[in-house]
Amino acid sequence: MNQFESSLSRRHFFKQSTVAAAAATLPGWFLQDSRSYAAAAPPRSANDKPGIALVGCGGQGRGDTNWAKNYGNVVAVCDIDENQMEQAAKQFTADGKAPVKLKDFRRVLERDDVHVVINGTPDHWHTLVNLAAVRAGKDIYSEKPLTLTIDEGKRLVGEVKKWGTIFQTGSQQRSDPRFRLACELVRNGRIGKLQYMWVGLPTGPREGPFSPQPVPAGMDYDFYLGQAPKVPYNGHNAHWNFRWWYAFSGGQMTDWGAHHNDIAQWGNGTERTGPVYIDGRQLKTMIPGGYDAASDYMVYFKYANGVQMIATNQAPNGVRFEGTDGWVFVDRGQLTASKKELLEEPLPANAERLYKSDNHMGNFFECIRTRKPPICEAEIGHRSISVAHLGVISVRLGRPLQWNPDKEQFVGDREANKWVSREMRKPYDYSFIA
Ligand SMILES: NC(=O)c1ccc[n+]([C@@H]2O[C@H](COP(=O)([O-])OP(=O)(O)OC[C@H]3O[C@@H](n4cnc5c(N)ncnc54)[C@H](O)[C@@H]3O)[C@@H](O)[C@H]2O)c1
Repeated sequence: MNQFESSLSRRHFFKQSTVAAAAATLPGWFLQDSRSYAAAAPPRSANDKPGIALVGCGGQGRGDTNWAKNYGNVVAVCDIDENQMEQAAKQFTADGKAPVKLKDFRRVLERDDVHVVINGTPDHWHTLVNLAAVRAGKDIYSEKPLTLTIDEGKRLVGEVKKWGTIFQTGSQQRSDPRFRLACELVRNGRIGKLQYMWVGLPTGPREGPFSPQPVPAGMDYDFYLGQAPKVPYNGHNAHWNFRWWYAFSGGQMTDWGAHHNDIAQWGNGTERTGPVYIDGRQLKTMIPGGYDAASDYMVYFKYANGVQMIATNQAPNGVRFEGTDGWVFVDRGQLTASKKELLEEPLPANAERLYKSDNHMGNFFECIRTRKPPICEAEIGHRSISVAHLGVISVRLGRPLQWNPDKEQFVGDREANKWVSREMRKPYDYSFIA
């Protein structure tokens, strides 16, 4: 039995042992401990608030901006779809003053009244918007999955460092104390030596085939497609559903993978590196002419420290850390463990404690003031999504891969190395923001 097959069989063990879990809310000692960290940026005086621009006015971008407006003034909204932009302009009109509306994000970045960019575009647009904003001297809150390719992330990390940008990746689970506690317990040996991590992700949709449809009025579809190949609009490949196509995203492997891989990397202490071995499989065939990102999948990873990880839609949503002395499971609603004492006993005074933030947006604006790195800075966002990209590449190639996380290259594998970047459709390649 190879490692991939043995992962499939362990899945049953995982399901059974979860039944024996000792459920718990956040323990009192941790809450007590956390009280002193509630350090979201206090509101600034009315005339001393940064100007915020929202680029990509969908549900998430508007949600982020609604949060951000506690710390600044929304001065511009930008979208290639007039309807989306109009909705955002209405939502962020304050005291009778509407934000300026611009279709082209490059025009937004020319404005001196814009200090902060909220990037709520689809995944395939994140990097060009982020790189251009970095070069324009803006600070950035960018949605996850941070990139479409590993190469995009390498470029972004380099430029963020060079320009001293304050950059927060929108992986907000990092600012949820439940996830932080789980990672602190694991990193301090509470479950013994960490051996296995289960990253449970949702199942993606298996739908289609879809037929071409007229492009909705007010939408610049070519601009929407951007670097992605020119494909006809079909009513299921723009706005929210872009996630289920490899042209724009990676399906649930990157959509939720961005969140839970980030936590697994944090707990494993590998947030600035990555796995060394990846073996992924698609478990169901997709419908021809329909969504093409794998709906059902299982990816086995191995890290240089010996820790093994499975990311799959076959396990319950969340992250389960298994060690030699027990396990901890965490998701957005619960933190459970193999025994209650594991959670209830306070960590010793000399324990390794992790970056504390209980407010992801507040942490970003606080860092804009202090110029210190936010909790999910570009390098961490890049490394977390690289794990997901590696899984997608292995699934799409249908074979195991060896990865060198220092060089960020596959080992002796010319074919796989081609997948580290992608051909970008002109004019939406890097010259678009030169
Ligand atoms: N952090 C989270 O929990 C979370 C939750 C949901 C979505 N997201 C992420 O947020 C991003 C947006 O997701 P969504 O669900 O809001 O998608 P959406 O499709 O509803 O919104 C994206 C918007 O960007 C616009 N757009 C596309 N290209 C553009 C460009 N070049 N310039 C300006 N605007 C452009 C689209 O017209 C659309 O209005 C995705 O990357 C998604 O993964 C994160």
